[in-house]
Amino acid sequence: MNRFSGKVALVTGGASGIGAAIAARLAGEGAKVLIADRNAPAATSGAIRYVETDATKADDVSAAVAVALDGWGRLDILVNNAGIGAYGETPDMDEALWDQVFAVNIRAIYLFCRAAIPALRETGGTIVNIASISGLFGDYGMAAYNASKGAVVNYTRSLALECVRHGIRVNALCPGLVETALSAPGLEQPGDRAHWQERIPMGRPARPDEMAAVAAFLASDDASYMTGSIVTADGGITAHTGQPNIIARRQMREAAAE
Ligand SMILES: NC(=O)c1ccc[n+]([C@@H]2O[C@H](COP(=O)([O-])OP(=O)(O)OC[C@H]3O[C@@H](n4cnc5c(N)ncnc54)[C@H](O)[C@@H]3O)[C@@H](O)[C@H]2O)c1
Repeated sequence: MNRFSGKVALVTGGASGIGAAIAARLAGEGAKVLIADRNAPAATSGAIRYVETDATKADDVSAAVAVALDGWGRLDILVNNAGIGAYGETPDMDEALWDQVFAVNIRAIYLFCRAAIPALRETGGTIVNIASISGLFGDYGMAAYNASKGAVVNYTRSLALECVRHGIRVNALCPGLVETALSAPGLEQPGDRAHWQERIPMGRPARPDEMAAVAAFLASDDASYMTGSIVTADGGITAHTGQPNIIARRQMREAAAE
């Protein structure tokens, strides 16, 4: 597939994890990609460039959009992927950490959209926001993350409405557990991985390239009738009410009795 030939994309947080996989996928399908990250990616190329950016700083954000426009003359795709996690219950949550989670996970999206939408109007471009299933439901000990990702989900809908008359589509991807640096702390203690996997109907975390495939679909003309959509890719986690698997428990009892 070469769905992005002649197109220019900007991927925030594209130096690692899901963002790096999205940058590689878009470039692999013909796009020129600018990674805007506070850290440098492992490699750049003719098709993938890098600009050091703190996505929470308005000046950095405007400068990053200008680098894409100065370098390649247009902007077709904005992927708002930069994000951070934070564990902690509310009474123990440090105010500065709460603010930083909101600054990266939602304020940065507003800043990038504000800076990029004028250029996206010129191309009839598209925005893909990387939210999370944690923006759809609650998790234990992840209040700041849950609240910030919930904001991404509803901001996506609102942005879709304000952008529709300019021919700009705006959608969000809600990944489940993806194997990256961000999810690593939740998987590193003995037994944690098995505990996670029991809760994922597909029985495993996703690879970043599996998220990139969905993000690329949303960014492509294959999704031409989609805007304001909140798309989950979570191995079935959110298909589940949380109630026990009665049939599996019955089968276990029967097997034990044999
Ligand atoms: N990994 C998962 O299980 C998972 C699940 C659901 C959603 N997500 C979301 O996917 C996105 C990517 O996460 P990931 O798992 O690839 O994490 P990651 O830590 O591998 O990558 C995040 C990237 O964002 C960059 N970044 C962080 N703060 C920044 C800032 N202020 N300015 C610029 N860049 C900044 C980091 O340098 C890093 O390259 C995040 O929005 C995350 O919330 C991840």
